[in-house]
Amino acid sequence: MPMNESPQQTSPEWEQALQTLAAQRARIILLGARDTGKTTFSALLANRQLSHGIRVAVVDADVGQSEIGPPTTIGMGMLEVPVPTLHAVVPRAIYFVGSVTPRGRMLETVNGVRAMVSKAEEAGAESVIIDTTGFVTGAAARRLKCAKVEAVRPQFVVAIQRKDELEHMLRSIERRSCTVMRLPVPDAVVLKSPQMRQQRRMIRFFRYFQDSRQHIFELAQVGCEGTWFNTGTPLEWKEVHFLREALRSQVFWAERTSEHLFVITDKVVDERSLEVVAKTFRVAHVTPAGVHRFVKLLLGLLDADGDCLAIGILERIDFANRTITVRTPLKDASRVAILRFGGLKVRPDGKELGMVNPGEI
Ligand SMILES: Nc1ncnc2c1ncn2[C@@H]1O[C@H](COP(=O)(O)OP(=O)(O)OP(=O)(O)O)[C@@H](O)[C@H]1O
Ligand SMILES: [Mg+2]
Repeated sequence: MPMNESPQQTSPEWEQALQTLAAQRARIILLGARDTGKTTFSALLANRQLSHGIRVAVVDADVGQSEIGPPTTIGMGMLEVPVPTLHAVVPRAIYFVGSVTPRGRMLETVNGVRAMVSKAEEAGAESVIIDTTGFVTGAAARRLKCAKVEAVRPQFVVAIQRKDELEHMLRSIERRSCTVMRLPVPDAVVLKSPQMRQQRRMIRFFRYFQDSRQHIFELAQVGCEGTWFNTGTPLEWKEVHFLREALRSQVFWAERTSEHLFVITDKVVDERSLEVVAKTFRVAHVTPAGVHRFVKLLLGLLDADGDCLAIGILERIDFANRTITVRTPLKDASRVAILRFGGLKVRPDGKELGMVNPGEI
């Protein structure tokens, strides 16, 4: 075993794969169910390639058990020195997916992987190792992994499986011009319970927000993504008054686009009154959202090129003054052009407070 390599036990199959890949300047994607050793293999391989003098980058596409960058993001980093684990790789770029699972955020996940691979290569990476989530069963997982392979066009696919759980996707992947390497799961693998996974995320979020501050953004100065909020024309006060009566709720905010009305309320409103409102305003859809849905929501802070500068926690919306307060470790927020709304609510101490699904806000 080369010097400086982490003290993992590698099986003869892993050792052979590492030797084959050590000198390859290529895009290499890891596939495998949960707790199969994907992240461990990625770190071992990155170290081997570095020791062969290859400029190697790692794209960490696992948004739940993130090692490079905070959870909810796809992170990319370049190896400068051998690393004991992937967590030691310093992030060079992150892409905000907005959730700790790719479910419901498949477009962002695929776009993110593609963007991070491009960034790695633009930064001079000769080899890119892509670590992924353990989401491999079912139709959605299959579509996601095939889309990632299509987006990345890897020369090598390292498939780590207990039995034959990846075969349903490998059969077609291996018809592409890439080499599929099937590896067994090492006996030494330690399983992580859902509680352990959440605990790990909590620590990562806590550390990320440890040295954070609040920035106030004017709604007129930023674009919002992943939400209806701040994307239409605010209603006149008379119309807001009508909405209050019709919905029998406090209305903090209301805005419309050609086909759609978006209302922020303080309580759940019934379907019947929504129909009345849709008819009155002549829109196809009305989306009501309780104001609590926004509090502590994670946001991606993007610049005008769409690059994610940092992530933040939505602390407060001041509806009267049309500002939004965000807690983030980003020091200089002057380049922030877009706030991308995520689906996870998190306190700065790392505690997760629940999810908001795409389309609900
Ligand atoms: N070859 C190995 N020798 C010893 N321990 C290992 C080996 N491979 C993995 N492990 C241990 O097993 C655990 C799971 O491995 P790892 O995190 O690499 O799996 P994963 O497939 O990336 O999991 P996840 O589903 O969380 O992404 C870790 O604690 C790791 O240290
Ligand atoms: Mg992993």
